[in-house]
Amino acid sequence: MNLSYDSIRTRRSIRSFDGLPLSPADSLAIEKAFDECLPAPFGSSPRFLLVASGLIGSKDDPKIREGRIGTYGLISRVPAFVVGAVARGPRALEDFGYAMEGLVLRLAELGLGSCWIGGLFDRSAAAAALGLGSDELMPAVLAIGKEAKRRTVPDRLTRVAARGDSRKPASELFFDSDFDRPLAISARDSGLLEAVRLGPSASNKQPWRILRDRAGSTFHLHLEEDRLYNSALGEIHIQNIDMGIAMRHFEVAARAQEMLGSWRRLEHDPVGLKPNFSYISSWIPGG
Ligand SMILES: Cc1cc2nc3c(=O)[nH]c(=O)nc-3n(C[C@H](O)[C@H](O)[C@H](O)COP(=O)(O)O)c2cc1C
Repeated sequence: MNLSYDSIRTRRSIRSFDGLPLSPADSLAIEKAFDECLPAPFGSSPRFLLVASGLIGSKDDPKIREGRIGTYGLISRVPAFVVGAVARGPRALEDFGYAMEGLVLRLAELGLGSCWIGGLFDRSAAAAALGLGSDELMPAVLAIGKEAKRRTVPDRLTRVAARGDSRKPASELFFDSDFDRPLAISARDSGLLEAVRLGPSASNKQPWRILRDRAGSTFHLHLEEDRLYNSALGEIHIQNIDMGIAMRHFEVAARAQEMLGSWRRLEHDPVGLKPNFSYISSWIPGG
């Protein structure tokens, strides 16, 4: 999937929409991106569906229920949602995050706003729209549409509560050979790491920790987990979605600077145990 670095720089969560339906051209472009955002790095195949707000599925189709995905007033006048599902399996949530963030960045390129919603939405309405299988998870949905000219008060409050504009300093996120040594970031690496840092994450917890190896070319991605938070939704470990998002951002940045490489999960954690840290995957240079 070809995505610009600019899409990463300009994206932020939008929670006040103008309420107007998507244009047919935008709807088509979004549905096309459902295929383009795959394959995902760990091999699962998330699937997506675009649904108009309020009405799920088509009125003419008796199999599909009408209903509201509902966002409990936090998101206003949203015209549409992308709902998605992924089969349960190892690293399925990372794959889902990676794929759906591809959609988010494509939406930014189309001049459309979006917001990940992993917490409060009507799961049964979204599951009905998708025809969710018993082997599948529905980790999150995306609210999408054109941004309103003025932001609502709940939007502003949510942004303040999630401290959506703030990011941890690079010294808390990126490390050199071991997690005690912050990385002195080179010109080559700054675009890659800044792309990760600008990424969305659940409650803006920014749980990505990247360690560059001694040789300076391999990057190991770890999750610093908030255990209580990450198990609050049962088997939907929301911070693992954040990891997939980080992988997408890193990869878009690498492609933008024509850097060859790919994500591969090594058999053994290359760094070793640290409390609440878990190894996710490694960016290995080369074609
Ligand atoms: C997996 C995931 C789930 C999220 N769930 C919600 C949500 O339920 N409601 C909400 O308002 N924002 C949600 N967000 C958006 C984050 O709060 C937002 O990304 C973060 O505060 C950073 O702000 P930014 O996206 O504007 O950079 C979610 C983000 C992610 C990645």
